[in-house]
Amino acid sequence: MPISFDSEKRIFKLDTKNSSYIMQVFEENYLIHLYYGAYIPDNSVEDLAFRRGNASFSATNETIGEGFFNVDSWPMEYSCNGAGDMRVSALAIRNRWGNSVTDVRYVDYKIFKGKPALEGLPALYTMTEDDATTLEIETVDKVTGAKVFLLYTVFENYGAMTRSVRVENASDAVMDLQRVYSTCVEFPTMDYNMHHLYGAWNKERTLVKRHLEHGIQSIASKRGSSSHNHNPFVCLAKDDATEDFGEAFGFNFVYSGNFAADVEVDFNDTTRLIMGINPIDFCWHLEPGEVFTAPEVVMVYSNEGIGGMSRTFHRLYNNHLIRGEWKNKKRPLLINSWEGCFFDFDDEKMVAFAKNAKELGFELLVMDDGWFGKRNDDTCSLGDWYVNEDKLKGGLSSLVKRVNDLGLEFGIWFEPEMISPDSDLYHAHPDWCLQVPDREKSIGRHQYVLDMSRKDVRDCIYDQMAAVLKGNNITYVKWDFNRNLTQAGSALLPPERQHEVFHRFVLGTYELMGRIVNDFPHILLENCSGGGGRFDPGMLYFSPQIWCSDNTDPMERLTIQFGTSMCYPASCVGAHVSANRRTGYETKGNVAMSGTFGYELDPVKLNDEERRIIKRQVKEYHKYYDLIRTGDLYRLILPTENKHRCAWGYVAQDKSEALFTFVTNLRLMNTTFYVRLKGLDPDKYYIDDETDEIHSGALLMNAGLNLSKHSADCGTSYTIYLKEVKN
Ligand code: DGJ
Repeated sequence: MPISFDSEKRIFKLDTKNSSYIMQVFEENYLIHLYYGAYIPDNSVEDLAFRRGNASFSATNETIGEGFFNVDSWPMEYSCNGAGDMRVSALAIRNRWGNSVTDVRYVDYKIFKGKPALEGLPALYTMTEDDATTLEIETVDKVTGAKVFLLYTVFENYGAMTRSVRVENASDAVMDLQRVYSTCVEFPTMDYNMHHLYGAWNKERTLVKRHLEHGIQSIASKRGSSSHNHNPFVCLAKDDATEDFGEAFGFNFVYSGNFAADVEVDFNDTTRLIMGINPIDFCWHLEPGEVFTAPEVVMVYSNEGIGGMSRTFHRLYNNHLIRGEWKNKKRPLLINSWEGCFFDFDDEKMVAFAKNAKELGFELLVMDDGWFGKRNDDTCSLGDWYVNEDKLKGGLSSLVKRVNDLGLEFGIWFEPEMISPDSDLYHAHPDWCLQVPDREKSIGRHQYVLDMSRKDVRDCIYDQMAAVLKGNNITYVKWDFNRNLTQAGSALLPPERQHEVFHRFVLGTYELMGRIVNDFPHILLENCSGGGGRFDPGMLYFSPQIWCSDNTDPMERLTIQFGTSMCYPASCVGAHVSANRRTGYETKGNVAMSGTFGYELDPVKLNDEERRIIKRQVKEYHKYYDLIRTGDLYRLILPTENKHRCAWGYVAQDKSEALFTFVTNLRLMNTTFYVRLKGLDPDKYYIDDETDEIHSGALLMNAGLNLSKHSADCGTSYTIYLKEVKN
C-alpha cells in the first residue's frame, strides 16, 4: 500500500516508486513533517524533526513545556498563523472575535483508493481506482470550530503526489479565510536552487534560478490570471543537481488565477515552501456549515535531475490531466489567420487561404479575431458574438461550408471573458463588467473584463457561443484572454464578499469553459492569453493545447519553449511557423515541431521554395507526431546556459526511435561540435534515417556524435532521426 499509518508511532508514510513523504502526529496532536525525498523503506526518522535552537523569544506550548518543541522552528506539516510559528504560514482564519489566531491539530484520518474530484476545480484524475491512493487527514481548530482537511493523493507509478485543502466551518459563527495555501513542505536544509519561470508578453516562461538565501523568496501573480510574468511552477533542485543527475522537487499549481509560492529559509538554515492562492485581495467568507476547497498543487520528486522531473510531469499531465476526445486523438494540422492578415480579411480571403492551405496539406483553417460584431480593429465588439456579415458575405455558415467543401475543417476565435465599451452587450448591461463603486474602470486593450462570478453573465456568453457552435460545423475553438483584472469588484456581491471576486472569477471561467467542453466534446479547445499569459495546469484540464507565445521568432521561441518544457508536455505547447522573421523556414519548422505544430501566415504569399519546404514539413509532422507527443524529452543543450547552441530530443518510451534537433543560435567560429545523446537504450542499435549509419545506443550516448560537418551559421538547424535496427 503506498500510504500507511503506524498507529504506535502515529506516523504517516506516503511512498511512490522513487520517493517517500513522512509525517507524524506529535504531542498535543501537532502534525509535524519528518521527511520528503528519495524512497526509504523504514519510517524511523523522528529525529529529523528535532531543532536545537529558538529563533528568538520563541513561544511554545505550555503542556509540552519549554526548551524542547516549539512551533516556531520545528517542521510543521501545515503552518498556521498567530500561534507561535513566525515563518510563512499556510493558513489564517479570522474568527468571530476578529482575531486571526489559527491553530489546527490532528483529529483523524482516512485512506482510500482513487482520487476524489475537487468541486468546481480542475485537478488530476484517475482512470481506475488503482491509479492513485488518497489520504485525508482531519484537523480542527478547537477554539473556532474550523475543520481543516489535508488531502494527499499519491500517484505511485509516477513519483508524484497532489495536495489540497478543504476548510469547513463547523461552528455556529461566521469566519473568514484570509489565506489558505494548498501545500506546505519543509526541507531540513537550504542547499537548493530555486528554478522558476519568469517573463512578460513575448518572452513567457524564461527559466531562471537563484540559490536559496535566508528570508523569503517568492513568485506570485495578482493579475487575475496565472500571468505572463510568473508561471505557477517552482523547482527546488539540490545544489549538486543537474539536468540529468541529483534531486529535484517540482511544484505546479493547478490554478489559473492569482497565486503565490513563498520559500522561506529560517535561522536554522531550514526551508519551507508554501504554494496556493495569493492571499493579497483574497478573503473567503464562510457561513456556518459552508465549505471552501483550495485548488491542488502537483508535487513531483526526481532523483534523475531536472530532466527527470520534467519527464514525470509530462507523462502525468498527458495521462491524468489532459482529458476528453482530444486527449489521444490525432490533432489536425492547422493554419491560423492571425499573423497572416490580422483584422484585414473577408470571406473571399478566407477561402483563398483555405485553397492554398489544402494544397500544402493543412487540415484545419482557424479564423482568428475580427469575424464578429463590427470588429475591424481591437477597439470594439467583444461580447457581440454574432457574425459581421459586411465582412463575411453570406454569413458564417456559408463560409464554413465553402471551407469544408475544399476539404478543410473550420475553427474560430472567441474572447469570452471580455467586453468592449463599444459593444451592444455593454450598452445593454454596463453593470456586467468588473467594477467598484465611485471609481473609474481601467481600460486595457480597449476592453473591460466581464464579471464571470455572475451566472447571468456566463449564461449570456454561453448562449451566444453555443449558437455559433451549434449552427456551424466548427471543430476547433481558440479561447483568448487579453488583459489583467483591475477594480475587481462585483455589482452583485455584498461588501464582506468583495474579496472573493478574484477567485469567483476563476471559478466562473472554469464553469463556462466546462460547459462548452462538455456540450461540444468534439471541439478541440486551444487556450490563449495574449500569447501564453494563462499557460497553467488549470487551463490544461479544459484545453489539451495552449498557445505558447505571440513570439513566433524561432530563435527567441527556443527560450520560451525550453522554459515551458519544465513541466508542460510538447503535446500541449501551441507552436506555429510564421512568416514574420528572417530566420529560414527550415528552423522555424524544426522549432515549431516540438509543440502542437501549425502555421500562422498568409499561404497565398508563399514562394515556390517556401512551399517546397512546407510540404516536406507537413510530411515530417505526420511522421514524428506520436514520437513527439508521447516520447520522453531530453534536453541536451539549454538556450539559457549556452548562447551558441541549443539541442534536445524526443525518445520513444520503448526506446525504439528518437528525434534530436540541433540549432545554432550564434555562430562559434572553428569549433568542433561534439554531442552526447541521451535517453537511448545502450544495448540497442540505431540507424540514422539520413546517413544510414548504424550505431549502438551506448556509442551515441557515451562516445557521442561529432556534428562539426553541419552548417554552424546563425539560425540554422538540423534534425537526426534514429530508428532501432531489429535483428
Ligand atoms: C492575442 C493572441 O495571442 C493572438 O494569437 C491573437 O489571437 C490575438 N490575441 C487576437 O486579438
